[in-house]
Amino acid sequence: MSFISKKQGFATRAIHHGYNPREHQGALIPPIFLSSTFTFETAELGGKCFSGEDPGYFYTRIGNPTLALFESRMASLEGGDSAVAFGSGMGAIASTLWTLLRPGDEIIVDRTMYGCTFAFLNHGIGHFGVQVSHVDLRNPQNLKDVISKKTKVVYLETPVNPTMSLVDIAAVAEIAHQHAAKVVVDNTYCSPYLQQPIALGADVVVHSATKYIGGHGDVTAGVAVMADAETALQIRMQGLKDLTGAVLSPQDAYLLLRGLKTLDLRLDRHCDNAQVIAELLDSHPAVQTVYFPGLKSFPQYELAKSQMRRFGGIVAFELVGGVGAGKKFLDALQMISRAVSLGDAESLAQHPASMTHSTYTPQERQAAGISDGLVRISVGLETLQDLKDDVSQALDSLL
Ligand SMILES: Cc1ncc(COP(=O)(O)O)c(C=O)c1O
Repeated sequence: MSFISKKQGFATRAIHHGYNPREHQGALIPPIFLSSTFTFETAELGGKCFSGEDPGYFYTRIGNPTLALFESRMASLEGGDSAVAFGSGMGAIASTLWTLLRPGDEIIVDRTMYGCTFAFLNHGIGHFGVQVSHVDLRNPQNLKDVISKKTKVVYLETPVNPTMSLVDIAAVAEIAHQHAAKVVVDNTYCSPYLQQPIALGADVVVHSATKYIGGHGDVTAGVAVMADAETALQIRMQGLKDLTGAVLSPQDAYLLLRGLKTLDLRLDRHCDNAQVIAELLDSHPAVQTVYFPGLKSFPQYELAKSQMRRFGGIVAFELVGGVGAGKKFLDALQMISRAVSLGDAESLAQHPASMTHSTYTPQERQAAGISDGLVRISVGLETLQDLKDDVSQALDSLL
């Protein structure tokens, strides 16, 4: 039971929601429940836990008090009914989609997404009788043209990893719901601080909590937040319990709870730094195109302003010299690390075509609009001047 109500502000809920120290001997910080199993007072009560008649904990793969606290905090921050934690973002995505789809169903997905999600769909679930259809969701009319009774799920990221294009969540949800399809949105790039897809009509929000939610590069985790309790129970009891077993460790749930406390502070700094870095890139002669929703020249700038609180911490760009210049730029960086992942305190730069999106064939990458020359920076929390100096010297080395 929480002594903090849901109506309180984002930061208050990120710090307090769902936890009352008085229920834990005054401990300010929630204890970590490491137990993998839980005892029953009687055999009958044990049976009731298993059947769902009694809400008690019985086995950590299905539920655990530390995980439950993280889940209830995430549900509150995303404006959902309930959440389920997972051992990775891919665990959350796979468990959600395995639960919602059956052989013969269709899933409509955006033309572009994170490489392993693409691989899960095209090289994974597609082999089990589910039809995977790619549609360019930048224009919701494209969805209207192809959606049918067979469509059970519409899946998207916004901003899209790695191209940064946006999808109008409310418009897509309206069309999907006319056909009784569920909308699943990967909100990893934004976190609930910058964008709340459920308020815009999404049914399920998935995250790689490895990124901004953890925020410190020391935990691999995922979470799915559901608009309704029934879908949440299904995803927990089928997707998590039986289909993937992708459970989160209680120690990692503790790190996520710690990360959440500073989510808004960190995101504001990520956004401040990324805006300046995007503008710096945009004005440099070695750069051909910058993809960042906060630039007035960004084709979906108006949608970004209406759908997101701020523009996020990720910047993608293409250099005049193409792939060769991209590699040279990455190698010239001195403070910014060459690494995949995103949302950490440290700035990270990578080359999607050969790294995060190498799961696509070159033809698939072309269809998805991922150019070979694209470079992505997850702008971190370092002192802005140092970031500017590093990016500038790496760009100048290309001239
Ligand atoms: C947008 C997005 N979704 C999902 C994932 C997968 O998350 P994880 O690496 O935690 O499994 C990633 C990982 O980079 C991602 O960028």
